[in-house]
Amino acid sequence: MPNTLAPPTPRNSRCLVTGASGFISSHLAAALAAAGNEVACLVRPGSRRDILSALPVRLIEGDCLRRETLRAAVGGADLVFHLAGAISAPGREAFFAVNAGGTRNLVEACLEWNPSLRRLVHVSSISAAGPSPRGGSRSEADECRPVSDYGRSKLEAERAVRGAGSALPWVIVRPPNVLGPRQKELEGSIALLRLHVRPLVGRRASRTSIIGVWDLVRALQLVAADERAVGRTFFVTDGVPVSWRDITAAFARAAGRRGAYVPVPFPVQYAAAAVAELLARWRRRTPPFTREHVTAARAYDWVYDDRAIRSELGFRSEMDLDGVAARTVAARGQRVGAHG
Ligand SMILES: NC(=O)c1ccc[n+]([C@@H]2O[C@H](COP(=O)([O-])OP(=O)(O)OC[C@H]3O[C@@H](n4cnc5c(N)ncnc54)[C@H](OP(=O)(O)O)[C@@H]3O)[C@@H](O)[C@H]2O)c1
Repeated sequence: MPNTLAPPTPRNSRCLVTGASGFISSHLAAALAAAGNEVACLVRPGSRRDILSALPVRLIEGDCLRRETLRAAVGGADLVFHLAGAISAPGREAFFAVNAGGTRNLVEACLEWNPSLRRLVHVSSISAAGPSPRGGSRSEADECRPVSDYGRSKLEAERAVRGAGSALPWVIVRPPNVLGPRQKELEGSIALLRLHVRPLVGRRASRTSIIGVWDLVRALQLVAADERAVGRTFFVTDGVPVSWRDITAAFARAAGRRGAYVPVPFPVQYAAAAVAELLARWRRRTPPFTREHVTAARAYDWVYDDRAIRSELGFRSEMDLDGVAARTVAARGQRVGAHG
């Protein structure tokens, strides 16, 4: 018989969200607060706070690189959602310091200062698993074969979480490309579409799994509330792999910008990424995209089988690519509280 009950979601819980000034976390913090939870957001002293200022959340300063700064944040939480991380970094060392080292510190902080924690939800990535075989998909049971420093550092972070064993009620979620308002690369693409430039990046035939940020946020709430998720690792997608061209086309439709694609040859993409990395290093900032991103989009498929979270926990994605594109374009420029 189909399960017609609404999936569980945390309510009246004390939640800590790390990486709260970032794209996914800010949507998660908004959803958790809207569901009646008490939400604390971990921010660094230099983190942007404008997005969070519209939300009924408490800010706690801390840095995942310095374990002792996490004490106050993890100490009072029922549920910890760990999303702080580096998607883009100047090199291997920086990826491993933040993604692997930062996660290890958080796990140790939870073990030491919150023995009654109800759940640690760790947000990993499909990059930790590695690309999928051409024409096929990857499941959680497949051996991990990351192909980038980002992916290897996210896999190392997963090991740190699993290393806690049964001492911590952890769950790992591996999202694919997440789409929604405030995703940095998308913001750039939408701005180009508004100028009638419709860039075609990546390899024409490459396919990728995707998920809208609102569905991902529901999945994170689900695994936090469902006891059966403890000790498990889940892929979560919208169920429909697409090409990079499909993504661009959906956003062009949503922005009302039809017309021809401008193919961006691989050497141009690669050179642009190299320049972005150089500029970022010079300005001591994170590059918006890197040569690693460009190569990953061109060389591989990134398609994942998420039957486990669907069949075992009853997860249902609600929004397809067109829906996500329409809502993202409509939300551009609005405040977070309006649609978080
Ligand atoms: N976006 C995607 O498509 C995608 C897909 C799969 C998995 N993920 C994973 O999802 C998580 C969130 O991704 P996102 O796209 O939302 O990232 P994002 O927008 O780049 O945000 C990253 C957040 O991490 C924080 N952070 C970085 N280093 C930190 C440290 N040492 N201590 C505390 N906070 C730190 C940043 O704070 P500052 O503001 O201070 O820099 C920022 O708030 C990441 O773990 C990522 O690997 C993302």
